[in-house]
Amino acid sequence: MSNMNNEIKKRRTFAIISHPDAGKTTLTEKFLLYGGAINQAGSVKGKATSKHAVSDWMEIEKERGISVTSSVLQFSYDGYCINILDTPGHQDFSEDTYRTLMAADSAVMVIDASKGVEAQTRKLFKVCVMRRIPIFTFINKMDREARDTFDLLDDIEKELGIATCPVNWPIGSGKAFKGVYDRAGKEVELFSDTQKGTQVGEVQKMDINNPEINWILGEEAQIKLKDEIELLDGASVEFDQELVNQGKLSPVFFGSALTNFGVETFLQHFLKMTSSPLPRMSDKGNIDPMIEPDFSAFVFKIQANMNKAHRDRIAFMRICSGEFDASMTAFHVQGGKDVRLSQPQQMMASERKMVDKAYGGDIIGIFDPGIYSIGDTLTTAKERFAYEGIPTFAPEHFARVRQVDTMKRKQFIKGISQIAQEGAIQIFQEYNTGMEEIIVGVVGVLQFDVLKYRLTHEYNVEIALENLPYAHIRWIENKDIALDKIVGTSDMRKIKDLKDRPLLLFIHEWSIRMTLERNEGLELSEFGR
Ligand code: G4P
Repeated sequence: MSNMNNEIKKRRTFAIISHPDAGKTTLTEKFLLYGGAINQAGSVKGKATSKHAVSDWMEIEKERGISVTSSVLQFSYDGYCINILDTPGHQDFSEDTYRTLMAADSAVMVIDASKGVEAQTRKLFKVCVMRRIPIFTFINKMDREARDTFDLLDDIEKELGIATCPVNWPIGSGKAFKGVYDRAGKEVELFSDTQKGTQVGEVQKMDINNPEINWILGEEAQIKLKDEIELLDGASVEFDQELVNQGKLSPVFFGSALTNFGVETFLQHFLKMTSSPLPRMSDKGNIDPMIEPDFSAFVFKIQANMNKAHRDRIAFMRICSGEFDASMTAFHVQGGKDVRLSQPQQMMASERKMVDKAYGGDIIGIFDPGIYSIGDTLTTAKERFAYEGIPTFAPEHFARVRQVDTMKRKQFIKGISQIAQEGAIQIFQEYNTGMEEIIVGVVGVLQFDVLKYRLTHEYNVEIALENLPYAHIRWIENKDIALDKIVGTSDMRKIKDLKDRPLLLFIHEWSIRMTLERNEGLELSEFGR
């Protein structure tokens, strides 16, 4: 194998998804601790800032530049080169969160053992399913009182519609948490104090039939464990790598990120079960990183630094094949010309650094003089190709927007269009009029503040936003449909996007179903392609 292929084979690029507070940051931090990228847990980015109020956010973002919301961390562990893509939650939740998943080869879903599947997890999970990427589940906070283990698994299967396969099984929870049982090795891994997780823990393993287990676990816990294992072996789906690869079966692990328990075991199993960079679809068919020798990448996120010079932007791209060299030139397919990829950056643990070399699977951020759009392809291949575009995700909050000073119409349209082009917001119009009335749609409500802030500071335009009650949007998939003919519900509104694609807005979710019933053959989609 060539050196390049070796490098690519070592890569594992995944996103961590969770509902806020389930422990994503803590788990990431512990990964870094095991990877030797940090010496002591507690020093990872983003922790403190994730809890700031909305009003603080702008200032923080300015100070931090591109840091928190765009975190991609790289570190090594056991011969692997790992790229973790963070998916911001809380108020930072936006389309970027979804798009990040487009750049990952698999996802780790962190679930709070006392809560089960929560709203945000559900949303992100849908995107993983759409992409059919493998999903691994880490059930966290076992050191606290947890819900019944079988219930938790049921919850995942029912709520998310994916089969689960526990790789290990918890022994008690909260104060009675004793550790986990490794099903393949038939060993008990005992929970031990790692000084609140600041130290890398040594896992003590013991055969399930070792007589000592009895007094370590206590008789009651041991009997319960044996019963549960019996039940589990009889009832659960067997591990099947193929189903995992197709995103149909999620291997489940239990642990406690805070106390470091189960983190390394998870990492070891996960790295073997997840894949190296996967082929990606283009207009010339699948591009396989193990076959395609030339550099290729696509832009999945554009981040404008929150300062007045709005042209100071960073385009984040996922390298899909080949080798990246600092300051190399590549063909920008959508722009139709060669570009120098300048000031390439990468996040290494908690620092940002310049990159000299990167390979398929890696994520880099390059300086964007305002030429890139989300989904653009860059490549050095002679026979050019473009990667499949990134879908537009359904916004959930809508507002009518107008400029306060009517004389500033031109700046207003320019500003709002540019911000929409970056992908921070989506803009729509009434379907039968022009740009007079603009409706803005966002995935995370904070984006409204971002829009207001940026229009004021970068374009000198003050705007007024009037919230609209709509919460659901659907793209109409049927080609050649007469929009006038669609019979909707009273809470439905017809609009179009910038590409003139017709869409429907609804206040109530049940209206979508009614509209479908009333219009035979109508096809609606949650993603705009
Ligand atoms: P997030 O990124 O998913 O939002 O979650 P984060 O890691 O910030 O964790 C949220 C809270 O849950 C934190 O507590 C964290 O310490 C705690 N936590 C994470 N993993 C575990 C675990 O395995 N067990 C227990 N018991 N707690 C866990 P906090 O009080 O909000 O923050 P802090 O004051 O502890 O920093």
